[in-house]
Amino acid sequence: MTPLIAGNWKMFGLKAALAELEALKGAPRGGTEALVCPPATLLAGAAATLAGSGIGVGGQDCHKAPEGAHTGDLSAGMLKDAGASYVILGHSERRRDHGESDALVRAKALAAAGAGLKPIVCVGETIEERNAGREGEVVRAQLAASLPDAAPGGLVIAYEPVWAIGTGLTPTNPQIEAMHALIHAALKARFGVGVRVLYGGSVKPSNAAEIFAVAGVDGALVGGASLKAADFSAIIKAHPAAAA
Ligand code: PGA
Repeated sequence: MTPLIAGNWKMFGLKAALAELEALKGAPRGGTEALVCPPATLLAGAAATLAGSGIGVGGQDCHKAPEGAHTGDLSAGMLKDAGASYVILGHSERRRDHGESDALVRAKALAAAGAGLKPIVCVGETIEERNAGREGEVVRAQLAASLPDAAPGGLVIAYEPVWAIGTGLTPTNPQIEAMHALIHAALKARFGVGVRVLYGGSVKPSNAAEIFAVAGVDGALVGGASLKAADFSAIIKAHPAAAA
């Protein structure tokens, strides 16, 4: 499977940030797939800036309905129309800030698939859940309830331990390997097809190579370190496939 290295800009970036994408275009990517998910205001600009580069753009969320009276929301079709090929769904910040449930994430994944977008569905435990030894149970339950009955085309899962996001903390390699094995097994049992499972949470140039070497890690979802082209391209370069 082609490794996917996706940048999640979150609520960062004005038009001037598109200059970072200009810089990213020339960075060597080899056999990796690179994706940038900017704020929705920059989607069309990012798509135009990256046109022809092979680097994709994605949204950070979408509504579950194809259109309607939902002030302030964006549909999957609108993201697609602006140039997106992927959409991040169920990020822990949305689950926290907007009370998004697994059922809502599932409905959004269906909407994304319906619009021809590949969903990147995020799962991950809190520190309390991990300290209680419940991380496997929690992630299994999130997967069960956040995904549609049939795997959407191009489905990607991002394992993002909540306690590792923006904290500089990362799980140990054996902890990452165990969780990725659990997720791969659950998806294989349910859908019968291989699905890429990304690791996310404090990935940076200094730890990317080590994380990419862990079995079952098919790429990364990168937050803070994706905002600067130099850091994001260093992370891409750290993947063994980038040299291919
Ligand atoms: P971080 O965020 O890389 O800044 O920890 C990752 C994410 O939330 O996707």
